Amino acid sequence: MNSYKSISFTHEGPVWTLTINRPKALNALSSEVLGEMSDVLRQLSEMNFDNARALIVTGMGEKSFVAGADIKELADLNEDLAHPYARRGQSIFHELNLLNIPVIAAVNGFALGGGCELALACDFIYASEKAKFGLPEVSLGLIPGFGGTVRLSRAVGIRRARELTYSGEMITAEEAFRIGLVNRIFPADQLMPEIKKKVELILSRAPKAVAQAKKSINRAWDMEVEEAQKMEAEQFAELFNTEDCREGTKAFLEGRKPEFYGK
Ligand code: CAA
Repeated sequence: MNSYKSISFTHEGPVWTLTINRPKALNALSSEVLGEMSDVLRQLSEMNFDNARALIVTGMGEKSFVAGADIKELADLNEDLAHPYARRGQSIFHELNLLNIPVIAAVNGFALGGGCELALACDFIYASEKAKFGLPEVSLGLIPGFGGTVRLSRAVGIRRARELTYSGEMITAEEAFRIGLVNRIFPADQLMPEIKKKVELILSRAPKAVAQAKKSINRAWDMEVEEAQKMEAEQFAELFNTEDCREGTKAFLEGRKPEFYGK
């Protein structure tokens, strides 16, 4: 599973960690990183709940989560090449939304440009106190190209998104928390233990219900309210076909803890 050059992909039971592993380049997203990420996401999409229940995405080292797309590669692009380049990045990040397990960004340092966009594509973001966020693309004569102009507004509101994107400024973890970009902040050495605690809690819930909740929230994101509610009702109803739904309700009525099997 771990024959990659620019990432590592490890697991403790059904909890997987994808670590971008180019610390000398502050974990910048080279084409190789993107290709390896894509491979990992394909593997995860083929696993069942016995083998995969959550994914943590992080960066190697203490300094950086991901400092953006690899600027050395960007320097060689032209318009014809840049379009498929951006579409590829967007599509790989979209795969994170399509996984039927929660994906948590563990932002341990710089999350800039494509790194901030990667964190935004995860289901939620936990950050170390040292983390820094920003979309500095305008300082390179560019705009975000891996979904940042789409996801940041939805995460923090359009006015803050404009301010951050036009200025290209970097903000602290505390400011990112204040504006709702980050769910929670921890001292650096507490980041992974705290994420694992949250993952344990999610693991105690019914796997299919968590998967349907993710699907429902993600699909509702760009739907009209009425259409989204119809879809929610369908997803809700579908869960009544699962053994876990029978077990969860029965266990509650019997005053015991449920035992879920993802069926
Ligand atoms: N691409 C390629 N290499 C990068 C990189 C990136 N995005 N970010 C950092 N590096 C490299 C540096 O070139 C440097 O390499 P060398 O040691 O070989 O010179 C190494 O990482 C360490 O970086 P610094 O010496 O710059 O470290 P610093 O502590 O002085 O500064 C920083 C840290 C503020 C994060 C700075 O590195 C920086 O500004 N990086 C670029 C951030 C950025 O602009 N990201 C957006 C990229 S564009 C994008 O992402 C487009 C998109 O939406 C898809």
